[in-house]
Amino acid sequence: QSRSLEEIFEQRIARDEKIEPKDWMPEKYRKTHIRQISQHAHSEIVGMLPEGNWISRAPSLRRKVALLAKVQDEAGHGLYLYSACETLGISREELYEQLHTGKAKYSSIFNYPTLTWADIGAIGWLVDGAAIINQVPLCSTSYGPYARAMIRVCKEESFHQRQGFEIMMTLAKGTPEQKEMAQDALNRWWWPSLMMLGPTDSESVHTEQSMKWKLKRKTNDELRQQFIDQTVPQADLIGLTVPDPDLKWNEETKHYDFGEIDWDEFWQVVKGHGPCNQERLSARVNAWNEGEWVRDAAMAYADKQQENKIK
Ligand code: 3HC
Repeated sequence: QSRSLEEIFEQRIARDEKIEPKDWMPEKYRKTHIRQISQHAHSEIVGMLPEGNWISRAPSLRRKVALLAKVQDEAGHGLYLYSACETLGISREELYEQLHTGKAKYSSIFNYPTLTWADIGAIGWLVDGAAIINQVPLCSTSYGPYARAMIRVCKEESFHQRQGFEIMMTLAKGTPEQKEMAQDALNRWWWPSLMMLGPTDSESVHTEQSMKWKLKRKTNDELRQQFIDQTVPQADLIGLTVPDPDLKWNEETKHYDFGEIDWDEFWQVVKGHGPCNQERLSARVNAWNEGEWVRDAAMAYADKQQENKIK
């Protein structure tokens, strides 16, 4: 008997087949991918702001070059992801409009300020560390363009994480003031990095369906636990203390037990009331408006090129 389009789709997912842009897919599958991929792209673009703040103030040329390369990579990640999102039938203009009007979300983590140079180390080490843990499973996500974008992104992220950890290691082994600066950055970035991986599974509205569609391959709590288990020994290695008095290795579960996350803070930040939400959004809106003449000039140039070709 004829199988319904849904049944054929479900069987393809079950066989770990990649769904490509021109394939039939349930409308909800398309919508949730536009939601997640666009917000992922927005996160990359907004994520350039906290770090960009320190490019002109990096303590050495070597640090400046690494930070410049990292911020440039984030821009590229954003563009891959916007392109992957466009294959689902939404325009680049619509995506930007959703970000600039506050309709679309971007990662909570980028709404915190970068107060000292050590924050740049903490971001590379913790934020890109959590991002890698979140993005590696996405390399085998069921939607083809998203999975392929993630493979390239993950290669570049590992450099981001290593240069961040090297900054923290250098400071932690430096003068007492430098070690204090590194500890202060860890104190301020630890909990927001845990929140970055999303609400706890019981509060996560999308996880169940996203796991069924193999958009998500691990749940928020699984990824968070993996991040903690991997990162605590790194802090120990450089003599920094993770700011969680309840953190304790559990010999039974072979995982770290950890303290309560402040989910009120998380939802406040997600809702736009974090320390830097306004500043980040207006920075993006201003950049868009001030860049209009560049876009117009590029289009005029492209049209002229086109005309010359036809002549
Ligand atoms: N910040 C803002 N919103 C968040 C969030 C966070 N950290 N975590 C969850 N949310 C939102 C979700 O978007 C959803 O809202 P929506 O329905 O309006 O989209 C709501 O909270 C409920 O959360 P769910 O867990 O149900 O949502 P998801 O299943 O989408 O899981 C996620 C959230 C784990 C972030 C998932 O979307 C994901 O894996 N996204 C792709 C990776 C990504 O976006 N990473 C963000 C950082 S990118 C980065 O760090 C770049 C690096 O180079 C620095």
